[in-house]
Amino acid sequence: MSEANTHLSILQRDLSLFRFPKRSNEPLQAWDAGDEYLINHVEGLNLADGLNVLILNDNFGALSCWFSEKHNVTMMSDSYIAHQGALRNIEVNKNPPIQCIDALNDIPKNIDLVLLQIPKNNRLLTWQLYQLRTQLTKSCPVIAVNKAKDIHSSTLKLFEKYLGITTTSLAKKKHRLVFSQPNSQQIQLVESITEWPVDDETFSLKNYPNTYSGESLDLGARLMLKHLPSDPTLKHIIDLGCGNGVLSVKAAQLNPQAKITCVDESYMALASAKLNVESTIEQSDRFQFIANNCLDGFRSESADLIVCNPPFHQNNAITDHIAWQMFCDAKQVLGSNGKLIVIGNRHLGYDDKLVRLFTRSQVKQIAGNNKFVILQATK
Ligand SMILES: C[S@@+](CC[C@H](N)C(=O)[O-])C[C@H]1O[C@@H](n2cnc3c(N)ncnc32)[C@H](O)[C@@H]1O
Repeated sequence: MSEANTHLSILQRDLSLFRFPKRSNEPLQAWDAGDEYLINHVEGLNLADGLNVLILNDNFGALSCWFSEKHNVTMMSDSYIAHQGALRNIEVNKNPPIQCIDALNDIPKNIDLVLLQIPKNNRLLTWQLYQLRTQLTKSCPVIAVNKAKDIHSSTLKLFEKYLGITTTSLAKKKHRLVFSQPNSQQIQLVESITEWPVDDETFSLKNYPNTYSGESLDLGARLMLKHLPSDPTLKHIIDLGCGNGVLSVKAAQLNPQAKITCVDESYMALASAKLNVESTIEQSDRFQFIANNCLDGFRSESADLIVCNPPFHQNNAITDHIAWQMFCDAKQVLGSNGKLIVIGNRHLGYDDKLVRLFTRSQVKQIAGNNKFVILQATK
């Protein structure tokens, strides 16, 4: 695949934009035609300088970099990776500083304009529209963008129901803008948490809107629950990509002596994991919750067991580079004889990756069904 363009050029202004983490030969671009459409549209409005602009779900900071030049930008995103991407791109382009907040923070006061990259997850969209409706003044314009094929009449109904009067633009380069205002007649309450019991287990799970598999248990996690070890010699377990913490809770029940570190790049996932640990495990001080990119900055040889149900997409792009990074980091962070236990769809070929890293004799399949395999790699 060819290397992606890193120069965004609009209205005689250039930005250098990189994804995070920055990789050599990166095939994926750090912005999309939706960002370009939104920038061109807002520049065409000839707004006064110095507005308080709230940007939701900016992927790697293209919108934040662009609008920080003339306005006070707050970027709100559930993604640690997006925060890091935006902050680095701000630095690269020597843009004025922005404020980064996560999606569970309150919306700042006095916002004059909201720009929104419509998220894939409708539960997150609904939650964000509800937040905007309750915390903005009724006249504050909200301009959203997405691929035209992903803006359905049901999406526009969510805007109408939870935010207010909504119209759309023509499609350009396969993207469309959505114009709305927080002026619906009635505020429709949206709960931040869904909770459901886990079959065959003694606990239930709470999930904030953007938590992976927040409506029901992931099928891979369901199988993994039956194969987590109970071993009194384990001192430190890491749940890498913890989501709602389902594996952390079970690992803690099976290994009451172990300290457990939950790592995820989603702040809502970590907040869910914390709620689930606190409501299930008595000594919740055994746990740490870290927003991170894989195991960046973790000490070498500091864990005995790492459990991992890796992600296979980033935003809308299907990719296995995060799984690979997770496996490489896990090898580094495991002590001698430490174990990495991974679950994945059979077709993802995680076995080849683990063999490349740990050698064939150190990798074995410990369970499987027609869809998933659980692999164990020993350092
Ligand atoms: C397949 S889900 C697994 C969630 C949970 N462990 C389970 O089994 O249901 C993968 C998780 O990895 C997280 N993730 C994605 N990229 C990450 C990264 N670079 N660093 C840390 N976590 C990441 C996602 O937010 C998601 O919660």
